[in-house]
Amino acid sequence: MADTIGLVILAAGKGTRMKIDTPKALARTAGQALLDYVVDAAIGFAQESGLVAEVGLVVGHRKELVEAWLSNHPKREVIRTAWQREQKGTADALKACFDDLPQFWNYDYTLVACADTPLIQSSEFRTLFAALQADSSLVGVAATFDARNPKGYGRILRSHPGFHIVEEKDATDTERRVLEVNSGFYILRTQHVREVLSSIRNDNKSGEFYLTDLFQDQFSVRPVKFPSEEPFLGINTLEQLAEVTTLLRIRKLRRLMLEGVEFLNPGTVHIDQAVTIGPGSIIYPNVTLLGHTNIGDRVVIESGAFIRDSEVRAGSEILAHSYLEGALVHEAVTIGPMARLRTGAEIGTESKIGNFVEVKKSKLAKGVKVSHLSYVGDAEIGENTNIGCGFVTCNYDGVNKHKTLIGRNTFIGSDCQMIAPVSIGDDAFIAAGSTITKDVPAGGFGIARAPQVTKDGAARRFLKTKKA
Ligand code: UD1
Ligand code: CA
Repeated sequence: MADTIGLVILAAGKGTRMKIDTPKALARTAGQALLDYVVDAAIGFAQESGLVAEVGLVVGHRKELVEAWLSNHPKREVIRTAWQREQKGTADALKACFDDLPQFWNYDYTLVACADTPLIQSSEFRTLFAALQADSSLVGVAATFDARNPKGYGRILRSHPGFHIVEEKDATDTERRVLEVNSGFYILRTQHVREVLSSIRNDNKSGEFYLTDLFQDQFSVRPVKFPSEEPFLGINTLEQLAEVTTLLRIRKLRRLMLEGVEFLNPGTVHIDQAVTIGPGSIIYPNVTLLGHTNIGDRVVIESGAFIRDSEVRAGSEILAHSYLEGALVHEAVTIGPMARLRTGAEIGTESKIGNFVEVKKSKLAKGVKVSHLSYVGDAEIGENTNIGCGFVTCNYDGVNKHKTLIGRNTFIGSDCQMIAPVSIGDDAFIAAGSTITKDVPAGGFGIARAPQVTKDGAARRFLKTKKA
């Protein structure tokens, strides 16, 4: 039978120094909550290690917001919350988890992580777990590192067989000079937690129950020192949040470049964690890619493009200064320059959306061309239809939205308006300058414009009367 592990994430803290109203764990960096990173890393580690896992999220300050976050989480079926009513310290937070989720006592291992360290990845947990498993007499390991500036961290005091951690507040001057510090990440055999947790006291300078008291010189516990402090960087202020966001973005860009994505000036690209880009794609300077955006293989995205929660499939081009939100662009499409695709815009293979065209909640089939200065809203347009310049779907009557349906192989001349609801059949032709109010059947020719009147020599007479 597979080993089991409880993944306990401490997120009850208010994060006072952030000066924001939401719980710190929900502060966002590179398009995700801080909590998302730790939860993904912990669950990823358990999966990679073949462990059966459950996440216990210890919530406190404004817990309803964390619960709302959880209700949208793709892995919510393996995440439970525990409520620490009063913040009496990290040991008390772990106790709140076991109190509310007693099944956690049954798991072989207990992992403890903080919620405010978005640079952590499953590899750190794997290293920590490997150290614990390498020695069957060990009951717990703590991730440590040598800090450039150890201020605020608990110091690691190595001994034999175990070690202990002294908090900055409680440390002597000599102890404060120790550079090896506690990251706040631990993996323990749950049996050890069961034996020690309830006996932890709060007789220290803070009057808090310290989780670090699970580690004592006489226990078979060990610090596992990591070569870099970067994975453990915690966020306490908005300034640190911005710094970590930059690091996350650099990490993301590096990974994409290794996978074959070319960035002409990577430092200027703003990219969220969940964005994917296929190999052979070229990203120009000053591109913004946000949220759940998926870019296929061999896509070109020119400068100034802003793309949020959209999919752009293989071989398509998003030309300069285009804005896409909630859009689906099929293969080999050209969008822009300066085009806007709004929510529900679906652009078929080999189509072309040109400059100053806006498309909203509309489905365009293969090979449709809307090349200039048009608004396409609540419409369906069939294959290979060509829409001239200055086309407008008049989809809103002041109260309701209506649909425009246009068939395949149809030609719509420039400067036409469709007064929706209206439908144009396949192989139809609409003359330029028409305001279409009635359906045109397949193969039909629609023209709806005032007949022209031309008067010979009248221009001069007209001007004369004007001047008089
Ligand atoms: C803790 C460690 C310290 C370590 C540091 C690393 C203790 C006693 N000290 O200190 O050795 O160097 O982390 O960052 O554990 N939390 C709760 N409930 C509480 C208190 C905290 O859920 O009652 C949560 C916080 O939201 C946070 C985590 O626990 O996610 C750590 O709390 P924090 O106050 O940052 O711990 P430190 O005092 O910095
Ligand atoms: Ca604290």
